[in-house]
This record gives sequence, structure tokens and C-alpha cells, in this order.
Amino acid sequence: MTIHESAIVILGASGDLTKRKLLPALARLFKTGKLTQSSIIIGSGRTDFDDEGFRNRFDVPEDVKQILFYHSGIKGLKNYISKKGSFTRVIFFFALPPSVYVTTARELSEEGFGNEARLIIEKPFGYDFESAQTINNALHKYYDESQLFRIDHYLAKEAIQNILVFRFANALFDPIWNSRYIEEIQINACERIGVENRGAYFDKSGIIRDMIQNHLVQLMCLLTMEPPVSLNAEDIRLQKINILKVIDYTECKRFQYNGYRDEPGVASDSTTETYAELKLYINNFRWINMPIYIRAGKALNRKGTEIGIKFKALPRLLFNKHGEIKQNRIIFKIQPTEGIILDLSGKIPGSDFQITETKMKFCYRDHFGSEIEGAYEKLLLDALEGDRTLFVSSEETELSWQKIGSLLDTGTLRFYDQGKIPIELTLTDWLDFEKYENSCQ
Ligand code: BG6
Repeated sequence: MTIHESAIVILGASGDLTKRKLLPALARLFKTGKLTQSSIIIGSGRTDFDDEGFRNRFDVPEDVKQILFYHSGIKGLKNYISKKGSFTRVIFFFALPPSVYVTTARELSEEGFGNEARLIIEKPFGYDFESAQTINNALHKYYDESQLFRIDHYLAKEAIQNILVFRFANALFDPIWNSRYIEEIQINACERIGVENRGAYFDKSGIIRDMIQNHLVQLMCLLTMEPPVSLNAEDIRLQKINILKVIDYTECKRFQYNGYRDEPGVASDSTTETYAELKLYINNFRWINMPIYIRAGKALNRKGTEIGIKFKALPRLLFNKHGEIKQNRIIFKIQPTEGIILDLSGKIPGSDFQITETKMKFCYRDHFGSEIEGAYEKLLLDALEGDRTLFVSSEETELSWQKIGSLLDTGTLRFYDQGKIPIELTLTDWLDFEKYENSCQ
């Protein structure tokens, strides 16, 4: 589908996000014909640039540069845009700190942007329940919820979207997708990098706010929610909310990597966690009594996001008389190599019944090649099309903050060395990730 006549305004355009993610994503949308020359991109910020100076900051093709402009500040923006043409949609990407979300929304409204406006808002969306609620209430004064697109870029990852297809397009899994058959679920997001140049932001946030409250909780909702009555955004959201309402966090372990306090922007006595493990239960009929572990951390020994599902053991009969059969497992590899691995038991060829563990592996790249659409590309396109499925509603954000609130900034802080994992991840016993990644094309 070709989108015509959209004005895409990036607020805070001189920042890092524009260069790293947004302009490359928009350039790809042009390349694939999903955006055309009938749209324009306007960078806006406090820094003074002329169009030429702004364009030269980016390494994008000439035809994209031609529709790239710069306008300093919000005042006069409406008039500026109308001189460029008539646009049915004006998309504002808030590449801004949360502290200015509300004033920016007010300024946009005062400038005369009304129903035609869509606001794409980056995380962090608030700092805790109260601040998220305050931001939501204030934004709703100027714009309707249907105009607000809160980004969670994890929702746009191919392998995460595939969870819905895996669950709801296969007859095999739903009957066993519950705590009667599943013993535990783990969701692990490991990063090799530390906080890099984001120390000042991260130190006020920590890994629970930065990764778990949003990305990983959203991921868990998709993994555990009931089948929605349709695939429209509202019906999916309803099911995610039903999970968020019954989450019961029972444990939280917090760690900080050695050397973190020396990072630029980080307080020398900081107690911010850079790794956390949360244990929780979903108190509904499907999941009662089954633990879920969510772990995320920086400066670890590898980069990888995985979900592990461990099924209950077989009765101690037949081949499993002495508990020799490994429990079945499914691993969803979200990144860097997308795939699904199913652990089964099989017979070793020969005259007696010797059992061994076998793996069925599905690797995205083998099937679909390596050209997987980037998350920002998809999110920008969806916002242009007005599809809110991959965006997070005010109710979801608030509920998620409310539930996790009691764990924030509390409990003993322990330490770990960079490049090490503070809590042994059982998933690494399940699969040799490096080997798997190398085996995918
Ligand atoms: C961002 C966090 O939302 O997600 C970062 O702020 C984190 O701290 C990043 O590094 C991880 O994203 P991805 O797509 O690389 O897993």
C-alpha cells in the first residue's frame, strides 16, 4: 500500500534516534515504495539548521533528502507545513525526553494541530504508576487516545509477532498451553553492551524500568493471553489487559555490574540495577501456580533474547521409569537469530530402546532469508496507516507500572563482573546458542 500526503515531523530531530533508527527506517519505506515523494519529513528541534545542513547529517539516498526539511521549534510549524502542500495526516514522532511530552502536546494543540495529528511517543512512558498516569491524563486533555501511539519496539519484532501465529494458527499447542502441562516459563533478554553513552538516562531508570516493565512484560502478555475474538487492536489489547490485571510478582533480585558507577552520567553511589530477575505468577485459570521468570541485563556474556517453555515431566513409567527422559521444551529465539526449537526424545538406532534428546529447529533465515523488516519501519508504517495493534494503550502502561511498582528500587543490590551472568540461566543448558546461531544460514 502506498501512503500519500503524510507530513512526518520528528520532534527532537537532532538527537541520536533520528540518525540511528528513524531516518534509516523512513529511507527503507521509500525504497520499498511504501512512502512516496508526495510525503515530506520535517525535522524539528531547538538547534538551528538550514535544510541543507540538516540533510547532510544523514546518510540516506538523494530522493529521500529532497523531501527532508528542517523547522526550528513548534511555533509556526502549521503554517510551514501548509506551504509545503496539503497533508491528510501529520505524524509527530516524539524523539524527546518524557519530561517534555505534555508541554509538547500542548504546544502542538495550541499551534492548531487537531484531528489530523498522530503522536508517536517513545518510551520511557513515565517513571512509575503515578507519573505514567499524570502523563496520560495530561495528554488526553489535548489528544484522543486513538491519536496516541506509544511505541514498544519489541512488539514489532518478527519473532515476537510470530508467537501469536504459533499459538493461534496451529492446532497443536493451545490444548497444552497452560499450567497443567507447562512447568515454567522463562523470558531472558541478555545484552553484551553496558550503558554506553546513556548513563545519565539509565541511572534514573534501571533495567526493570528500561526493559522489563515494557518490552518483556508485553512479550509475556502475548505468550500467555487468551485467544482474542479477532485480530483487531482492541481485541488483542483486551486480552493483554486481562493478563496484566492478574500478574502477581513474588520475587525480585537486583544486580549491578562492577564498574557501572564509573560510567559517564552515573552517580558514584548509584544503587540502580543493571540486571534483574523477577519471578511472577499469573493468577488466572490457565496459568495458576506456574512460575514465570523474567530476566534482563546489560554487560553480560552474550546478546540474545529467548523464551523458554518447559513442559512437565512424564509419569515414571515405560521409558521414564527412573526419570531418565528429559522434559520437553520449546525455545523461541527472538534475537539475534530468530527461530523456534523444540526438544523431543527419540530412539537411538539399535536393537534396544535407548532414548536420546533430539531437536527440531526452525530458523527464520533458512526459510525467509535475512531481509527481515526492521521494527521502526513497521511501527512508522502502522502509525501512518492508523493501525494501533503494535502500540501500547494508556491502560496497559498504567497497569503494568502499577503491578511492578512495589519492586522498583527495593531489595538488596548484588554485584557481578562485566561479561558474566550473575544468575545462571538455565536456558543455556537447554541450547548451545552459539552453535545454533552458526547453524542458521
Ligand atoms: C531499549 C532500551 O528500549 O531497548 C535499551 O532502552 C536496550 O536499553 C534496547 O538496549 C534493546 O533493544 P533490542 O532491540 O536491541 O533488544
